[in-house]
Amino acid sequence: MPRLFYGALITPSSLTEYFASPRALLCVLDTGMIAWVVDDVPPSELQNELARHGLLDDPNVDIVELKTGEFLMPGFVDTHTHAPQVPNLGSGQQHELLDWLSEVTFPMEARFSDLSFARTAYETAVRRIIDCGTTTCCYYGTLHLEATKVLADIVHSHGQRAFVGKCNMNRECPDYYIEPSAEDSLSATRSLISHIRSLPPSCPPNVPPLVQPILTPRFAISCTPDLLSSLGELARSDPNLAIQTHISENPSEVAYTKTLFPKETLPPPPYAASAVSQKARGTYAGVYDAYELLRHNTILAHGVHLEEAEMELIKARKAGVSHCPTSNFNLSSGCAKIGELLDKEIKVGLGTDVSGGFAPSILRAVQDASICSKVVAMSAPDKPTRGFANRQLPIATLLYLATLGGAHVCGLERAIGKLSPEYAFDALVVSVRTDAGNPAVWGADLDAKVHVGASGGEFGREGGRGKTETEELEGMLERFLFCGDDRNIRRVYVQGRLVGGKEYKM
Ligand code: GUN
Ligand code: FE
Repeated sequence: MPRLFYGALITPSSLTEYFASPRALLCVLDTGMIAWVVDDVPPSELQNELARHGLLDDPNVDIVELKTGEFLMPGFVDTHTHAPQVPNLGSGQQHELLDWLSEVTFPMEARFSDLSFARTAYETAVRRIIDCGTTTCCYYGTLHLEATKVLADIVHSHGQRAFVGKCNMNRECPDYYIEPSAEDSLSATRSLISHIRSLPPSCPPNVPPLVQPILTPRFAISCTPDLLSSLGELARSDPNLAIQTHISENPSEVAYTKTLFPKETLPPPPYAASAVSQKARGTYAGVYDAYELLRHNTILAHGVHLEEAEMELIKARKAGVSHCPTSNFNLSSGCAKIGELLDKEIKVGLGTDVSGGFAPSILRAVQDASICSKVVAMSAPDKPTRGFANRQLPIATLLYLATLGGAHVCGLERAIGKLSPEYAFDALVVSVRTDAGNPAVWGADLDAKVHVGASGGEFGREGGRGKTETEELEGMLERFLFCGDDRNIRRVYVQGRLVGGKEYKM
């Protein structure tokens, strides 16, 4: 039977606009797809609206009514994280990238050869990430085939939407944590892809399966040219297979990549024969391009130090960028120029990059994306009044990056990322009420009690102007994005199924 949600609803519509309705009625089908949404239904009209949809007096229809201070919004999309690094959250901030990998990260990842450790760690990691409101997640596993199968199985059994990849890494890694050869790496990758594609799809036919495989050459440094070459060949034979990797995160990493892949040693055109490819030869992105790993379904994490020619190449290949500001601050990598990428119409989403980033929640990435854009703007010589470059990102853009922008980066923009008919119901019930128990959030119910906001008269917010209900709802979104945490996420739905949140009980 259809399920109905009645109350405030927020959904992005573009990079610069979102829609906020204080009283929407939304209908979800058994398939988990949104059937319809009506924007503004006053309580006196509710029965009529139900009658219009033939749902009046149907005892089987379940209506979830939201309270003041609660709203529905699309679930978060984390376009870049490392599940085996969750146990390392909060450790290692004294290092920059390459030392951090060898001192902190590889030793932890190596422990996932132990399947019992892997199972326990992954169960906990996935549960936490879902409860943070992440309905779609792009996961890196370790280099281990069996442990990464366990990760995919756990994600699938928890009902999260995800991409799961096994790291390819056959050089420049410690001998206790390295793949023995390009052939071994490729064959384990093929096995993981078959394993994930044999999981039950649990989605209607018009929506991609919930868990999908993703090719994961860790970064150029960790892959020999013959490994990149065979991964490129695999990608060519399977155009729907997504790809994820790191790019231009840290200056030492960029310099080292260039010494490992001098442009004379890259495969020759024709694949990379176009003018944009030629211009970018000798850059970091040029390496991935030469091996045919840069395409419409490639997710590039970081992109802090991209050169102009690389941005043009990424745009031409229609690849997406995962902006990981918490990690970029924490590992002293730098401030990514996200505004420039957006002005070039490059797809951008947000990533937590656990545990380079020290928080599993996309809310933290939203907060740091805002601060990062302000740091970039403060350091810019001129103060533009148009576009995104060198300006702070507005709330609408932050919301977009956390949801629909991430969906675009994952190639799921027709399935998820907004609450509209024919999209999957991947959604959060958010509460900014006092009873959510987060002392950082001034409860929306307190507004009413002490007369702040629409009912606030001369002492209300906005200098006594009073606020419309829509403006109040917009204020709640801002409070949630900047001060919220998992305590404010009551319910998490993926494809219409309740999979997490504070009210979820297994
Ligand atoms: N580059 C290669 N591997 C990693 C990783 O695990 N985290 C980050 N942040 N960058 C990387
Ligand atoms: Fe990463």
